[in-house]
Amino acid sequence: METWDAIRARRNVRSFQDKPIAEQDLRRILEAGRRAPSANNRQHRDFVVSTERSQLEELAKAWQSAGHVATSAVTVTVVLPEEEGRSHELDLYDAGQATIQMMIAAADLGIGSGHASIGDKAVVRGVLGLPEDSYPAYFVAFGYPADRPLRPLRHPNRRPFDEVVHFGHW
Ligand SMILES: Cc1cc2nc3c(=O)[nH]c(=O)nc-3n(C[C@H](O)[C@H](O)[C@H](O)COP(=O)(O)O)c2cc1C
Repeated sequence: METWDAIRARRNVRSFQDKPIAEQDLRRILEAGRRAPSANNRQHRDFVVSTERSQLEELAKAWQSAGHVATSAVTVTVVLPEEEGRSHELDLYDAGQATIQMMIAAADLGIGSGHASIGDKAVVRGVLGLPEDSYPAYFVAFGYPADRPLRPLRHPNRRPFDEVVHFGHW
């Protein structure tokens, strides 16, 4: 897919086929996340990759709207340091950049993706064996869409361009 098509085709996919993601495709998605920029190139994020069904099912229990994690082919947990203030703000921004870069790389391969928040961080910590000084920030679930293939969306559910974009001044 062309980059512009992948950007327009990406949407949250929450219903996945029971089909694995090839190792090389998964590595490309993760590499896209690794290459994402970060403030001062701090790279304060780690990715924990889950593919075992039983582990995915455990992770899905950590948030009411994370059911799609259970049926994903792969879920990446984005892990950040336990920090506060400005540093934490930057880490969250950077986590978002890594997330969307992985999602676009996935869309380029026809692979769907869906975010999920994490409510019960202790569950995830336990399942993934995270170090004490880090915490699981978000899930990103991946898999082949079960509903319909990824195609550029003609009418995305977004605020109108002229309302969102302010040229020169507000
Ligand atoms: C920070 C963040 C947290 C999100 N958490 C969830 C979630 O817990 N469960 C879920 O199903 N979707 C979650 N989403 C997906 C959004 O609901 C989705 O991106 C938004 O509705 C726009 O839809 P689209 O991605 O299909 O364009 C999250 C997205 C972001 C950016």
